[in-house]
Amino acid sequence: MERIEENIDKTEPIIIGSDHAAYQLKEKIRIFIGSLGIEVKDAGTFSELSSNYVDYAKKVAGAVSRGEFSRGILLCGTGIGMSIAANRFDNVRATLCNDILSAKMSRMHNDSNILVLGGRLIGDVLAFELVKTWLKTPFEGGRHLDRIKSIEAIHSIES
Ligand code: RB5
Repeated sequence: MERIEENIDKTEPIIIGSDHAAYQLKEKIRIFIGSLGIEVKDAGTFSELSSNYVDYAKKVAGAVSRGEFSRGILLCGTGIGMSIAANRFDNVRATLCNDILSAKMSRMHNDSNILVLGGRLIGDVLAFELVKTWLKTPFEGGRHLDRIKSIEAIHSIES
């Protein structure tokens, strides 16, 4: 049987954030990641009181963009708002993955550095599997690196 935990980099901490809609799942994932032996920084929210997901996207994506964390996890109700907001930041590749193949491919081909989940769309068991898959899957590099570099260059292109 595969020992998934052996393939996971436990040396790099993870920053996690959510809005109220995914607060409960964020708490479970935070504890789950801690149980894998990975340090977790919780950027909030810290209750189910209504909040603006953009505030937490800014905290997590900003920290990844500045290189303070190499990877992060964001959650909101659908994951859509978090994806839109997080991908405004340079160097951020936030990928909304509510299925296992997307979680795997987002690492292999897109070098995802923020996993985005929809707290109102998925259950705990699938969420943990998505996190494990995303954490253990390496980037393939090669032609995919060239493509990522051309994404980073988009902001300087006049449309
Ligand atoms: C909050 O009601 C909801 O809009 C938010 O969690 C998210 O799904 C936005 O994309």
